[in-house]
Amino acid sequence: MGKRKVLVTGSAGFIGYHLSKLLLEDGFRVHGFDGMTDYYDVTLKQRRHQMLLQNEGFTATEGMLEDLELFDQMADDFAPDIIVHLAAQAGVRYSLENPRAYIDSNVVGTFNVMEAARRHKVDHLLMASTSSVYGANDEMPFTETEKADTQLTIYAATKKANESMAHSYAHLWNIPSTMFRFFTVYGPWGRPDMALFKFTKGIIDGTPIDIYNNGDMFRDFTYVEDLVRGIRLLIDSPPVRPESKDDIEEGDSLSPAAPYRVVNVGNSDKVRLMDFVEAIEDALGKKALRNYMEMQKGDVPATWADATLLHRLTGYRPATDFRDGVNQFVAWYRDYYKV
Ligand SMILES: NC(=O)c1ccc[n+]([C@@H]2O[C@H](COP(=O)([O-])OP(=O)(O)OC[C@H]3O[C@@H](n4cnc5c(N)ncnc54)[C@H](O)[C@@H]3O)[C@@H](O)[C@H]2O)c1
Repeated sequence: MGKRKVLVTGSAGFIGYHLSKLLLEDGFRVHGFDGMTDYYDVTLKQRRHQMLLQNEGFTATEGMLEDLELFDQMADDFAPDIIVHLAAQAGVRYSLENPRAYIDSNVVGTFNVMEAARRHKVDHLLMASTSSVYGANDEMPFTETEKADTQLTIYAATKKANESMAHSYAHLWNIPSTMFRFFTVYGPWGRPDMALFKFTKGIIDGTPIDIYNNGDMFRDFTYVEDLVRGIRLLIDSPPVRPESKDDIEEGDSLSPAAPYRVVNVGNSDKVRLMDFVEAIEDALGKKALRNYMEMQKGDVPATWADATLLHRLTGYRPATDFRDGVNQFVAWYRDYYKV
């Protein structure tokens, strides 16, 4: 059997970069697809792709998911066995400013990916959803089998739409499909729009950092290397359509009508935002100037993953302590920006 071929969309992004790197180390052939959008510093995305291109198992196409002709040509040329779809307009807060970007990238773009998965009869289609789909749910930790119908932003709504879209295609065309719900991912090569990056920059520059809801927030921070290890293992656990409802085990989100499942990928650890800030201060050896602010529209006070299903499917549980992960990030940041 030749090397398995994985199409990774969003390969120049934070998670796509780490996942592609891991898959290459594991001997997969990887084709990356990324539109290099200017939502944040494009140089960071280019640097990530340059690093991946040093591996001969990696090839890439630059383009937008919505460019159907280009996307189809790329998918036909590469003929993937597996698709991991991570490209998206990400970010909760930006979705209040520019909601249309989310419809274009996440709804139209994801549909194009699903069509390619159908044409190529892939062995497994895996796509990124988010803990934000739990919206106003307040029963913690969040489990995949609970109802998630109260999205609070258009970002969350497009991701919930992706889950429904994927379910329908899994049902109609028998495409084994896994949707990941990620929980606040952080680590080296991280995203400049996210808290860890902004806090680190602010503390180094001596500028105030915005702390929402006066710091009364909790997040299930997931270290990126743990996250991509979880994805890697889930690739080998494609859902199988059950013969009857009775075949679905308690706590499994497997659909009764399709080879389709939703899986939380989180650390299962609820961390106080202020403890996270203190870990950054400790790593930098410098105190932050704190600008306490109200809760932001569309934001939620807490997220916390029940990751039992991930563990049951893969035998794996993310476990990096946030202080270790923060140290790794700060070391990378200092090295990358020479500060
Ligand atoms: N990082 C997190 O904490 C987190 C949490 C929950 C869910 N997610 C989801 O995980 C996935 C990866 O997130 P990330 O943190 O790596 O984000 P990222 O922004 O770093 O990566 C996304 C990549 O997709 C590309 N892209 C965006 N729109 C595109 C389009 N229309 N066509 C082609 N390329 C496009 C961007 O250029 C970027 O490189 C996303 O789907 C995101 O919604 C991330």
